Amino acid sequence: MKGRKRVAILISGRGSNMSALIEAARNPSYPAEIALVLSNRPDAPGLFRAREAGIPAEAVDHKAFGSRSDFEAALEARLEEHVIDIVALAGFMRLMTAAFVDRWAGRMINIHPALLPAFPGLATHERALETGVRIHGCTVHYVTPGMDEGPIIAQAAVPVLTGDSAVDLAARVLRAEHKLYPAALARVVRGEAPVVSGRVEIAPGDLLQCE
Ligand code: GRF
Repeated sequence: MKGRKRVAILISGRGSNMSALIEAARNPSYPAEIALVLSNRPDAPGLFRAREAGIPAEAVDHKAFGSRSDFEAALEARLEEHVIDIVALAGFMRLMTAAFVDRWAGRMINIHPALLPAFPGLATHERALETGVRIHGCTVHYVTPGMDEGPIIAQAAVPVLTGDSAVDLAARVLRAEHKLYPAALARVVRGEAPVVSGRVEIAPGDLLQCE
């Protein structure tokens, strides 16, 4: 596809969602190309996986900067250099300043391993089990200054099964994440997920099946 949008993926760890996006974008009809992977951790396994896939992948080590805004200025410089249109966070474990988030408003998305607004933050699978929910899942949303609060773009649900451990549940959710994130990014890139009055309209076909 001509004129594909240029996406940067920001990671901190293993990068399995990153790999799912890279894989989806291998298809020439996918509306985005993965032009850059950035990690705040130089030892993130995902950086090596990205390079193996032939994607420019760089570390911007947050520890090398005196302030959050200096770190973000360095990120911004890399994004500008690679002429990035859209930023996809995929297991990126740094909170962004409101200034950075505002600059990328409507152009930065995140995947969260729970059905928001339930279980924002960390340890989502443990909390889902403790709470006794029967349905769990994942959410792709726009990034806004409040953590895990931005408008929801897409969600996928999975069942919680008898005897599940947090590890079992995480694996089931992760399989759903790997399908959901490429589909949600494609919608964003095609301009099919505009935010109107603080929410994204539910699109036909949005109801995703439980595993
Ligand atoms: C995923 O569960 C994602 O939802 C969360 O962090 C995890 C990252 O996993 N934000 P990976 O690095 O994509 O494998």
